Amino acid sequence: MKNSFLYSLLILSFSGMNAQNSEIKSSIKNVETKVDSVLSLMTLEEKVGQLVQYSGSWDLTGPASDLNDKQKETNLKEGLVGTMLNVLTMEGKRKAQKLVMENSRMKIPLIFGYDVIHGYKTIFPVPLGETASWDLEAMELSARIAAIESVAEGVNWTFSPMIDVSRDARWGRIMEGSGEDPYLTSLVGVAKIKGYQGDDLAGDLTIAATAKHFAGYGFAEAGRDYNTVNLGENELQNTVLPPFKAAAKAGVASFMNSFNEIDGLPSTGNKYLQRELLKGEWNWNGLVVSDWASIPEMIVHGIAKDKKQASQIAMNAGSDVDMEGGAYETSLVELVEEGSLDGALIDDSVRRVLRVKFKLGLFDDPYKYNNPEVEKNISYEDHRKTAREIAAKSIVLLKNEKELLPIKSTVKSIAVIGPLANDKDAPIGNWRAQGEKNSAVSVVEGIKNAVGKDTKVKYALGTTLGISEGSFLLSLEINKSDRSGFKEAIELAKNSELVVMVLGEDAFQAGEGRSQAKIGLAGLQQELLEEIKKVNSNIVLVLINGRPMEISWSSENLPAIVVAWQLGTESGNAIADVLFGKYNPSGKLPVSFPRLVGQEPLYYNQKNTGRPTNGEHVTYSHYTDVKKDALYPFGYGLSYTQFEYGDLSLSEVEMNPENNLEATISITNTGKVKGREVVQLYLQDIIGSRTRPVKELKGFQLVDLEPGETRKVTFPITPKMLEFYTANRIWEVEDGDFNIFVGGNSRDLKTAEFTFKN
Ligand code: BGC
Repeated sequence: MKNSFLYSLLILSFSGMNAQNSEIKSSIKNVETKVDSVLSLMTLEEKVGQLVQYSGSWDLTGPASDLNDKQKETNLKEGLVGTMLNVLTMEGKRKAQKLVMENSRMKIPLIFGYDVIHGYKTIFPVPLGETASWDLEAMELSARIAAIESVAEGVNWTFSPMIDVSRDARWGRIMEGSGEDPYLTSLVGVAKIKGYQGDDLAGDLTIAATAKHFAGYGFAEAGRDYNTVNLGENELQNTVLPPFKAAAKAGVASFMNSFNEIDGLPSTGNKYLQRELLKGEWNWNGLVVSDWASIPEMIVHGIAKDKKQASQIAMNAGSDVDMEGGAYETSLVELVEEGSLDGALIDDSVRRVLRVKFKLGLFDDPYKYNNPEVEKNISYEDHRKTAREIAAKSIVLLKNEKELLPIKSTVKSIAVIGPLANDKDAPIGNWRAQGEKNSAVSVVEGIKNAVGKDTKVKYALGTTLGISEGSFLLSLEINKSDRSGFKEAIELAKNSELVVMVLGEDAFQAGEGRSQAKIGLAGLQQELLEEIKKVNSNIVLVLINGRPMEISWSSENLPAIVVAWQLGTESGNAIADVLFGKYNPSGKLPVSFPRLVGQEPLYYNQKNTGRPTNGEHVTYSHYTDVKKDALYPFGYGLSYTQFEYGDLSLSEVEMNPENNLEATISITNTGKVKGREVVQLYLQDIIGSRTRPVKELKGFQLVDLEPGETRKVTFPITPKMLEFYTANRIWEVEDGDFNIFVGGNSRDLKTAEFTFKN
């Protein structure tokens, strides 16, 4: 990613900033004074207004509030609204800003938020897919590009990154995060925040980021969205919170709380999480926005009897801004005036909102982000090139037998079959911001672009998925009976040397509210695949997916499998780059692929239990009908070359706070082509005051090797890496023995042991 384009982007984004550098520095120094002086002039009503967020009515992700557009306009004019989301057009944003700036007494500019999750117009792989690249620089760059395109349309606040550790493939929102590991999720979150926010929010092309959803949202029981979360302290501290702590430390401008309860308390009302931990212990000074109407939803949860009580609980707990919930605007003034809410809490929340507005430079120029010139300087063509590179890096090769891949130039006829083969929409995925419908390069198009003139590429649909856009009851509508396309597809497969089957999920099968109890190939896809296999076994399965899928049959019966996720705008070209070997696949799974959905939630960093394994009798922790491990584990992914690992050596076998270790391993590219390996480091604290996972990712390095090349890779092992939230309820390292593992996935690893003493 170190190309001239990246360089020019960074120059572009920071040049405006340089020009104003001294001004910015002084304004940052003075932000607190300015915030205080604005605050001192505000009435209680105006203060509460800053904590109210409205949605434009065009692009809802939840039920709309009771207010109609006219009432919203009136409230904007009176300065009773602080931030907005989903105001889609530049004109709309300008209009809303003008309503505030030209009519309200305090003239405090609005911020405009939007879910820019994996690109704005140029769509990048869905976050789960992009994480499979393990390329933090690339992920920072895609966020940078998304920020620039967002600014061009007046958006200055994204509700991203989602850093919910998610281990359940049934949960539709698993596509929005970075998978099952807290360490990887933390690093990706920080890279994204850097990409969106740059070094300084005051830059002209940077936007405020949001760490969400605080907290535990990914642990919904049975993978059902919004469902109850029962999470013990140990798991909360060691697994769920670390990415959020890292985001706070990285200076993310805002946090969003979550819809779920944890142990009986909805996060929106969770004082420990928001006030004591985030704003207290972590000393973070940004703003917490509620999730969509999560304040009044506390009534439905059964923790508040009405909006007023919900507001009281939420404000006491540290939820600063009410997203389209209509609770704060109707209750906070009254609560303070009658003495049942401390006005100082409101002041603190308002300060947090004003701080972000000052940092964004909105007080200097409320229309700073409403500048049509920005769009003129954008090269969408360049953005697409980057999107293609990142998409190729995100692809994971799971299986490659019979040397089917990369496809050789001697192959003269390729059948591209399946409901997603020529689908230009599925790769755009859910949460597509302004990514246009049907705007992706399809696999058929990508393959046609890649082959020479004398290779025939033919396409057959085979079967439809039968899912209609925006459908809420997907499985009820899915195609279960129309086999009219089978014959043509089977004929085509029969008459072709190679079949590329493109199967998987529709654009909206994953995402918010899209939980599924089945994660296999929906509709008639499996049946079609088996029929094709009968006439031609040279099949490469390309999966287009937003979640890990159940692909045990394919794994047993097909020679080649490629996980292509929902790769965005350049999907088909990136897939072709991998299929034809222009890019040697280097992606590694950020989430386990199960053998059966019944194994979910499934993750590599599990606990041993008291009965982990026993080949002799039945009473141990396993299933009697399926192996208990993953079909393809976390960190797994093949290349067109092979990597051989030497022995793992340690610089010392005893470690203490002053004496760090180094772990070294040599890796050789023993194949014929250049390739990239993600070398992964895992640790296990064997005995702890609380049980510890069997292994935990603690480091990784991307290593590019020429054929025949050997490289020594060294990982420093520091005490920080050994810390966990112990029985003393603090983060510390306990004395004892540790296992260290290094390898190319979480299952096949070289090991060594060392001892730590404080
Ligand atoms: C989602 C958030 C999102 C918000 C605004 C909610 O339903 O949970 O992740 O940012 O809507 O669109």
